Amino acid sequence: MFEPDLLKDRSILITGGGTGLGRAMALRAAVLGAGVFLVGRREAPLEDTAKAIVERGGRAGWATADVRDFGAVERAVDRAWKELGSLDSLINNAAGNFLARTERLSPNAFAAVVGIVLEGSFHSTLAVARRWIEAERPGCVLNIVATYAASGSPYVVPSASAKAGVLAMTKSLAVEWARYHIRLNAIAPGPFPTEGAWSRLIPTPEAERAWLEEHPMRRFGRHSELADLAAYLLSAPAEYINGACVTIDGGASACAQGGFTHLVDAPAEFWEAVERERRRTP
Ligand code: HXC
Repeated sequence: MFEPDLLKDRSILITGGGTGLGRAMALRAAVLGAGVFLVGRREAPLEDTAKAIVERGGRAGWATADVRDFGAVERAVDRAWKELGSLDSLINNAAGNFLARTERLSPNAFAAVVGIVLEGSFHSTLAVARRWIEAERPGCVLNIVATYAASGSPYVVPSASAKAGVLAMTKSLAVEWARYHIRLNAIAPGPFPTEGAWSRLIPTPEAERAWLEEHPMRRFGRHSELADLAAYLLSAPAEYINGACVTIDGGASACAQGGFTHLVDAPAEFWEAVERERRRTP
């Protein structure tokens, strides 16, 4: 789909880059020529993903940091800059989430998710953008939100609130920092199977079946599909895309908004009755 050197000479920091969608985006960006720097809380997955990239001939480094800690994020950004020679892109991918009835949540549970998703995205954005602005260099930020950032969703209220904040931050800074040639965009993924999300949100085969039955394409997203979209949004040909949020969910959120969506499973007799009624009325 892409020129093999689409991201040649680019250097990208990815939070949560050791696992799940972060790992998929890191592997794809590296194959397309970018140097990647992975940041996360756990050493083992970061090391493993960086190793996989280097074994395939790519450039990768990593550092542990909890994105809730601004000082730790700044130290990781410093290291990334030194190891890769510079940084020109950031993917805010690190997330925290779980299913819960909201009335049972503690304030600390809400703060844990908002701290990772909203404050964490702000911390890394601030750390890299200050450097870009000072050095008068262009930059690109890609925020991974969720389709419910726009709609809200029951039972994931801390995450929905935080992702809505990240979406607002994306659009606000896209305007404020356009003068510095810093682009900010978001991707709103629907269901993409990852260990982190599935174990917390779709933990049983019945829950998975229920999701699939409701989905217009009857399938989940493939990691390669999201990684390709991310690569494009980071690339030079996407230079005029700024302040956008691209949904990638196989039509799931459009389906949820349609008033007649339940009719996708209507039997043929229903449609015959509709036809009969049409012929009967003038
Ligand atoms: C209710 C919970 C809880 C749960 C934790 N808490 N899990 N409350 N239900 N299932 C509460 C704890 O009791 C505690 O509150 C507070 O949250 C902090 O918990 P800790 O475990 O101490 O925090 P921490 O170790 O920092 O872990 C953060 C976390 C965890 C968010 C709770 O799940 C995590 O690290 N997640 C990272 C990976 C992840 O979530 N990936 C999925 C992303 S999917 P008290 O009051 O007891 O101290 C995604 C998009 C999906 O974001 C879109 C799908 C369509």
